[in-house]
Parts: sequence; structure tokens; C-alpha cells
Amino acid sequence: MRHIISPLDLSVDELNDVLDLAGRIYRDPKRYSKVCDGMKLATLFYEPSTRTRLSFETAMMNLGGNVLGFSSASCSSASKGESVADTIRIVSNYADICAMRHYKEGAPLVAAKYSGIPVINAGDGGHNHPTQTLTDLLTMKELKGSLEGLTIGLCGDLKFGRTVHSLINAMVRYPGTKFVLIAPDELKIPTYLKTETLDVYHVPYKETGNLEEVLPELDVLYMTRVQQERFFNEEDYIRLKDSFILDRAKLNLAKEDMLVLHPLPRINEIATDVDDDPRAVYFKQAKYGVYARMALIMTLLEIPEPQ
Ligand code: CP
Repeated sequence: MRHIISPLDLSVDELNDVLDLAGRIYRDPKRYSKVCDGMKLATLFYEPSTRTRLSFETAMMNLGGNVLGFSSASCSSASKGESVADTIRIVSNYADICAMRHYKEGAPLVAAKYSGIPVINAGDGGHNHPTQTLTDLLTMKELKGSLEGLTIGLCGDLKFGRTVHSLINAMVRYPGTKFVLIAPDELKIPTYLKTETLDVYHVPYKETGNLEEVLPELDVLYMTRVQQERFFNEEDYIRLKDSFILDRAKLNLAKEDMLVLHPLPRINEIATDVDDDPRAVYFKQAKYGVYARMALIMTLLEIPEPQ
């Protein structure tokens, strides 16, 4: 039995296999519409979500399975003090696989230790969000043709943004990746990601506070919102929340084939006048998330390719 807590839980070959399967499902969804007949996915969400929870549920239903779960801690027995360990022991009796989002870093890892079913981390605090990363990789692979040789600008809240941390962990393993880290001083990526990941894989990167200056060199611009829920005081959030706003005028500085990705939700960091630009693929990205999660569910449940 396998769990996916971090993108590093999949080797590059396994990642590529999941992405290839997701591509096949995307092109022929009907073929996969019954492969999880009789199976159940539990979505255990202790923190709010729109895309991740609903795309997981859509993914399981598209595979012919069923879903159960809770969408907030307050409507589960966590509100009475039940531990994650006890909850997953119980849910293991009800479902075949589970996706867990938690506000505490490491909670899905704890769940995995006590679980009788595969656990997928659907976002843990400011730590990791591996299925968003699968979604991001699938989007780049489908729309760029390859995950090799990409210069990726990561912009916004690189300190608390778990999608950024997971994306760095995955992309350092693809040849030719370069990162441009665009953030205010207070929201730079944590030092451990530089010393334990970027430096270890010898991935070139530079840090800047100037989006306009670096836009022309990017193949992908990954925008992120400033994570209000992770700030200790409101004043800092208000001061930093609009540090970077991508609008049509700034986008004119970018390559014609640059992709604009965003894990969403968007607040102010991408002006709505960008939405109609063909380079703005963040809504398409959210759609790819369903296929990425269908492929991951099939992989963890060891469902064979249908005849
Ligand atoms: N991208 C993402 O995790 O969105 P939700 O918080 O809506 O799930």
C-alpha cells in the first residue's frame, strides 16, 4: 500500500507514468468510466477547499466510484477532539482510499502511519500539496510538450505557498529546469528549500523583487496569492497582499508562448483583463486537475488499464 504525502513519494519515472495515464484519460475519458466500480474515496478536509476536494470527488465519480467525507473539521468529530490517527482508523473501514487536507503540517503523514488505505495529502499547512503539483506538471506537459528545459518564475507568497514548495520539489528532478523566485523580502522561499533541494540538485535560481524585469525570460509564470490564513498579524498581510499584480500591460513584456499558471483561488494578483489572453491557462489548469487525480487514484489502487 502506498501513500502520497510529498511529490518526492513518486520517482520521476512514476511521475511520468501518472502524467502519461492522465493524458490518456483526458483524451478518452469514457474508456476509464467504470474502472473503480464499487470503490469509495473518502475526502477528509479539515481546511476549506473548492478545487481540490471537488476535483477529487469528480475524479472518483468519473472512474465509476463513489465518494464520502467531510468538508470541514467543524462538521466531523474532530470538533469533539478526535485525533487524526483515530479518524483514519475508522475511515479505513469505510473507504478504499482517502484524500486529506489539514491545516497542520504533517497531519497526512500521521494519518498514513495509522491507515489501512492509501492516504493522499491534499494540502498540509504551508508544507506540501502534491496533487496540485501533478496538476501543474500535467498542464505544463500538455501545453508545452515537455517538462524539460523550462525557466519557471514563481511569484508571490513563496514562504507560505505549499503549491510552490511542492512544485520546486518535483521540477528540480527534470533536466534544464531554472527558477526565478519573485517575492517580497518577507515572503521569500524558506532557506531549507534552497539548501536541501535547489542546491542539492544544482538547479540554477535567482531571487528578485521585480516581476517586470524578469518576465521576458520566463517560459512559465506561476502566480500565487498571499496566504492570509498563515499570517500572524493582519497588518503584515495588508502591507504585502498586493505586492505583485499581473495585468495586461505587464503581460505584454512576456514571451508569446509563456504560460500563466495559478493554483487558485486568485485574489488580486492577476487582473481579470488577463483572463482572455491565450497565455492565461489557470482555468484550464484546474480542469487538468481532475485527470491528474483520476490517474493518481488508479495508480494507488493498482487499477489496470481497461481492455
Ligand atoms: N488549488 C487549490 O488547492 O485550491 P482549493 O484550495 O480551492 O482546493
